[in-house]
Amino acid sequence: MTLDNLRVEIDNVDKQLVTLFQKRMQIAKSICEYKKKNNLPIYNGTREDELLLERTNLLADGSLAPFAERLFSNLMEISRDYQTNLSLSKNIVLIGVMGCGKTKKGTLLSKRLNIPFFDVDYEVEQSKKMTIPEIFAKYGEEEFRRLESEKIKELSQNTRCIISTGGGVVLNPNNMKVLKEHGIIIFLNRDIEAIAGDIDTTTRPLLANGTDALFKIYNERLALYQKWCDIEISGNTTIVEAVENILCELQRSPL
Ligand code: S3P
Repeated sequence: MTLDNLRVEIDNVDKQLVTLFQKRMQIAKSICEYKKKNNLPIYNGTREDELLLERTNLLADGSLAPFAERLFSNLMEISRDYQTNLSLSKNIVLIGVMGCGKTKKGTLLSKRLNIPFFDVDYEVEQSKKMTIPEIFAKYGEEEFRRLESEKIKELSQNTRCIISTGGGVVLNPNNMKVLKEHGIIIFLNRDIEAIAGDIDTTTRPLLANGTDALFKIYNERLALYQKWCDIEISGNTTIVEAVENILCELQRSPL
């Protein structure tokens, strides 16, 4: 058989896979509707493990097992993300001390759920056409906090988006009330020593004199992050793992 012929064959298999994928997602949608109606969670880890084993046991060629495991585990993950997208009625808000990875983790989360991503600091910068350190230097922290609150009110009018906040968002209870009214609050709690080791201080005016201030800031705010959050996630993992943990937590209880 020629390479061209083999390619035609694989194209045909893929066409069937596309049809089957659509069919599978359609069923996932119906499952999602049933679960929502009956207040059931999207994620059931034990069932996923059982299904994975069942699927790989169907293989005639056992050497494919590790590859099939990856395929079905990705398929189940995609199905869960799709159902989360369909069920979500609120925003997902990331809070935590600067350097805990809110922006990077939020960006990946928005990709997995296929919903928009907004970064409060970035929006403030865009509205003033200035960087955060420039705003602090020219207008002071108080004016920055006012701009920050203004943006939070504006962004909270959205539904079904990811909002990454600046570390100081919890200092103003009104910020948190607005965000909580329209969103699920996720606290990314990363080791402060690890943050001090890799944070870019040049973009953080509160750390203009070095990372010592970071420890004080963290100790002052920890109780606030914990008070306002619905879910606390460890920030001491890779970005991919943290996002998977956020999604599993969201999918473990009815949305
Ligand atoms: C601040 C955190 C920053 C930024 C500003 C003030 C804070 O955001 O909003 O420099 O008070 O902790 P990141 O947490 O994204 O660095």
